[in-house]
Amino acid sequence: MIPAGNVDTRFVEEGFINLDPIQAAGRLTPEAMKAVISWGDGYSVCDHCHKPFRLDYVNNPPVADFHEEAAKWLNMDSVMLTPGARRAFQVVTGTLVGKGEPVVMTGMGHYTAYLSVEVVDGIVREIKPTPDHHITAEETANAIEDSIREVGTPKLVFVDAVDFMYGNMHEVKEIAKVAHQYDIPVLYNGVYTVGVLPVDGKKLGVDFIVGSGHKSMAAPAPSGLLAVNEEYADSITRTTKIQGNVTGRKFGIKQVGILGCSLMGDPVVGLIASFPTVKERVNHFDEELANHKIVTDALMSIEGTKVASEYPRRHTLTRMDTTESFNVTAQTHKKRGFFLSSGLAKRGITGIMPGVTKQWKFNTYGLTRPQAEYLADAFLDIAEENNLAIH
Ligand SMILES: Cc1ncc(COP(=O)(O)O)c(C=O)c1O
Repeated sequence: MIPAGNVDTRFVEEGFINLDPIQAAGRLTPEAMKAVISWGDGYSVCDHCHKPFRLDYVNNPPVADFHEEAAKWLNMDSVMLTPGARRAFQVVTGTLVGKGEPVVMTGMGHYTAYLSVEVVDGIVREIKPTPDHHITAEETANAIEDSIREVGTPKLVFVDAVDFMYGNMHEVKEIAKVAHQYDIPVLYNGVYTVGVLPVDGKKLGVDFIVGSGHKSMAAPAPSGLLAVNEEYADSITRTTKIQGNVTGRKFGIKQVGILGCSLMGDPVVGLIASFPTVKERVNHFDEELANHKIVTDALMSIEGTKVASEYPRRHTLTRMDTTESFNVTAQTHKKRGFFLSSGLAKRGITGIMPGVTKQWKFNTYGLTRPQAEYLADAFLDIAEENNLAIH
């Protein structure tokens, strides 16, 4: 590896099949890779920023067009760029939620969702997951009712389309219908769907869609977007009214929610450069699922191995349960639980948490068919090597 100054260059995607659940769909396209080299300088995208000095008005690179196209693509009314999904959550809670006010969210949510409520001094009211790890409209109604009775009407319902724990798909459309019966807006957390599979905000009936560029849109970190429907566009994109009391200074039409210009340089050009590929690839998610099935079929043919996520799979991020197979091997293997990750590494495969053999997650998003077949064979090989029965 050739070092870049005092930083080693990274050698992962070039040399390995990377199964890291949060990295798979964030890998840059060749176009984004080129763009980030060219636009890497700090304020590069500001070369052509003219009056009224707003990032979303910049035409070169085509930041303005990207905003418009992304909104159309998600079938929403407008889009705001944010440094990651978490900042999009914060823009929404910062606009809708006041001190002591409740937000209903899934009990399987990411920590950043909870913190986006905490940062505005709100209260979290969780939707209880079902025993098979799903979030339902029925439990959402219960959480809303409990909240109304105990702390007040929720200001927002926050739901993951696909959760990070199991990669399960949740009934967002039905949840949105229930929330709207109480006049509560709905945030669709699409960090594992926007850029991975088709998402249509109007069909889902949601008020906000959040996507993560670095997780699922083949973009550098930190990048993300917040798509908004018309009803909330004015409040979310509200512009500054503040004025200095001594100097009388004002700040034009900068957007308050994202503190003016949020996403500059590599994150935004990477997002834009990958967008044509991302728009196309969402139409081929069935092929991703077919590749994923090759791997889960192989794993399930190893005696004692189960899929802990919902099955059949509807997403390529899956939690496996190998307590009765690889974990049995780990009890006596000289490498203990590390035999699995090291067996995979020997075969050029990375991204599974080292040492873990009970329940572990992986994501096959973006693998080619030959890579999926190779991966399936690698798991079977490791099982055979360790005298596990294969059916
Ligand atoms: C479900 C979920 N939501 C939100 C996030 C945060 O996304 P970002 O890094 O884009 O802020 C994550 C990160 O892993 C996540 O899994």
